[in-house]
Amino acid sequence: MMILVTGGCGYIGSHTVVELLDDNRDVVIVDNFSNSSPNVLDSIKEITDKDFRFYKIDITNENDLEVVFKENKINSVIHFAALKAVGESVEKPLEYYYNNLNSTLVLLKLMKKYNVKNFVFSSSATVYGSPKTLPINEDFPLSTTNPYGASKLIIENILKDICKADSSFNVAILRYFNPVGAHKSGLIGENPNGIPNNLMPYITKVSIGELPFLNVYGNDYDTNDGTGVRDYIHVLDLANGHLKALDKIHTSPGLVIYNLGTGNGYSVLDLVNTYSKVNNVDIPYKIVERRAGDIAKCFADPTKANKELNWSCKYNLEDMCKDSYTFQLNSISNALSVD
Ligand code: NAD
Ligand code: UFG
Repeated sequence: MMILVTGGCGYIGSHTVVELLDDNRDVVIVDNFSNSSPNVLDSIKEITDKDFRFYKIDITNENDLEVVFKENKINSVIHFAALKAVGESVEKPLEYYYNNLNSTLVLLKLMKKYNVKNFVFSSSATVYGSPKTLPINEDFPLSTTNPYGASKLIIENILKDICKADSSFNVAILRYFNPVGAHKSGLIGENPNGIPNNLMPYITKVSIGELPFLNVYGNDYDTNDGTGVRDYIHVLDLANGHLKALDKIHTSPGLVIYNLGTGNGYSVLDLVNTYSKVNNVDIPYKIVERRAGDIAKCFADPTKANKELNWSCKYNLEDMCKDSYTFQLNSISNALSVD
């Protein structure tokens, strides 16, 4: 049973591939390295000591992707490949709609042609817009405020329509909250190019002195300490959710939607203080204006995934902070040894 993983060299994809290989599943990865590096392939091999197939292709190219379907007996697809920076999507809407929608449409078309019926999709808590109450469950109203979020919501609707038209097509839509942390080996993790947009990668760069201080976007929200609250989830727990979701659609067909979050909300300063404490490092910060488009609080009700997938989170905020730092330190020592 071959599993095709699109975007399998990226942050969440690489951790999921490790989980799949550790569980003795057969994997074929496709990625165009638009936001990842070929080194990830070696790291996955080193961590798992397992083999897998890899194709460097852009999955918006139907002819290239068809080769993968022809050469492999694919049974299921986990679709991570996408552009994912919210701010950039506002600047470059066409690139975001083109890449995220075309890649998915091409993939779904080839799945139909090659009779592949199982699909796991990376969606996001961003589809809940600004929730009126908390915690957020899967039945909350959906809305988006930027092209990235809109691309996710459009794809969710496409998948619902396909399932309505074809009762043999099985889909798990997974709405991730805020993935952070890294593999325990320190070999794979999140290492964005340039100045990070997201909180944890920004903190890790401050912790190694690559950036002088953290800008905390607002301390006048209606939260415990005035800073924004989010549901941070360890990427290893998130990765494990994908295996459970695959098993779920194999055993009970149709379309399912799950929140993947811990159910706990932590503020920006909770994260800063925990990171400082567990890693014994200083994180200087300045309070600045709120960031446009941010909401005060966002955290999941993960009950449905806990019950129906028999899935729950093993790692806490301290693990997330420790593992992010270990990966960052490891990335520096690798860069130095290459120089
Ligand atoms: P990532 O950028 O690290 O990984 C995406 C991978 O897809 C990259 O390796 C990139 O090179 C590849 N890719 C992009 N377009 C491609 C194309 N056309 N053809 C082939 N490869 C392509 O991102 P991630 O954080 O691992 O996110 C994975 C998925 O989860 C994305 O769909 C993202 O929107 C979603 N998601 C991420 C977060 C988050 O905070 N990281 C939150 C919610 C949802
Ligand atoms: N923050 C700062 N300083 C920074 C970066 C972030 O104070 O330098 C704050 C934000 O204001 C927010 C919190 O840290 O309160 C988290 O911000 P992130 O940018 O890390 O994450 P978001 O919740 O804004 O968005 C992320 C992804 C989206 C995804 C969403 C829900 O970027 O793609 O989580 O999963 F949709």
